[in-house]
Amino acid sequence: MAAVKEQKRVFSGIQPSGVLHIGNYLGAIKQFVKLQYTHNAIFCVVDEHAITVPQKPQELRRNTLNTAMLYLASGIDPKEAIIFVQSQVPAHTELAWILNTITPLGELERMTQFKDKVQSQAKEAGVFAGLLNYPTLMAADILLYRTDAVPIGDDQKQHIELARSLAERFNNHFGNTFSMPEPLIEEDTARIMSLQDPTKKMSKSDDNTKSYIHLLDTPDDIRLKIKSAVTDSGKEIVYDRKKRPAISNLISIYRGYTKMTFKEIEDQYKEKTYADFKNDLAEVIIGELAPLQKRFQELSADKTGFEHILRDGARRAKSIADTTLQDVKQKMGFFI
Ligand code: AMP
Ligand code: TRP
Repeated sequence: MAAVKEQKRVFSGIQPSGVLHIGNYLGAIKQFVKLQYTHNAIFCVVDEHAITVPQKPQELRRNTLNTAMLYLASGIDPKEAIIFVQSQVPAHTELAWILNTITPLGELERMTQFKDKVQSQAKEAGVFAGLLNYPTLMAADILLYRTDAVPIGDDQKQHIELARSLAERFNNHFGNTFSMPEPLIEEDTARIMSLQDPTKKMSKSDDNTKSYIHLLDTPDDIRLKIKSAVTDSGKEIVYDRKKRPAISNLISIYRGYTKMTFKEIEDQYKEKTYADFKNDLAEVIIGELAPLQKRFQELSADKTGFEHILRDGARRAKSIADTTLQDVKQKMGFFI
């Protein structure tokens, strides 16, 4: 029998800015799949966030559909959760505009993700206002659905703080409207690091393709990437993020894809070499990704069914979002 769902709502989003990697899966999607059975769950492909850095139209469209397909292929079930594309629900940008009028400029300028992106964008295309206002749009995404919890990776904590402070400010000024969203972070896998540099987060935008494993990588690619992953000096397979960041990152990935504890993994590899461990890790990842990749191929072959799921998701999301937005506008004194 299906579990009885709490009325608590979870909401999360992923940007369609490239194929997803195992960091996205372990840090975010894996939690989404679990939460859909216990919560009122909504998962979004945040294409309006992706355009805060330059996008080629054809690629944006392809990445949007691929990201949604990867949600489904990973096990998110449209009967359990709403899946939709952000730009199909106009209330997001409308609430974002409203929230911009109560967002202190200084808070936006202090955001780590903004500061990082300014550095990379300044050299390439220039920095535009959308990049600064990105966290306000994210707050709108979350608050529109009166969200209780937001499953995310570690890097998004600061953005959730902003969403909370905007909810509080709005509620104080205009009366109780929004709930206070809590971040949900799976500590062990919240920050999967680059396979080439364990001081940097695994990222889709890394120029070195050996630094990440895409969810659609072939078995040969995965073997090669794990084999060439950097390791620390020494040869013991022990988890110690400070002293042995590289092997600890690989152990976290192993742990994320098996149900084993750190201790069990360390015991299993006590007498073994880095090479043994890496061989096994590659096979674990390949085995776990195989059903996801198969399902992705099946979904790609049924475009009509897949697009129907997204349109239906948008319709359901819109009805919730529009109700909140009407409430907001009424409380603020708009003519409605
Ligand atoms: P993004 O690709 O930036 O849209 O991220 C989508 C989700 O994946 C967010 O919840 C991120 O926090 C999470 N995420 C991204 N990169 C990593 C990583 N290297 N390790 C763990 N989680 C990550
Ligand atoms: N900023 C998030 C990221 O880069 C993506 C995102 C946009 C999001 N809106 C959201 C995540 C709302 C959670 C909830 O990963």
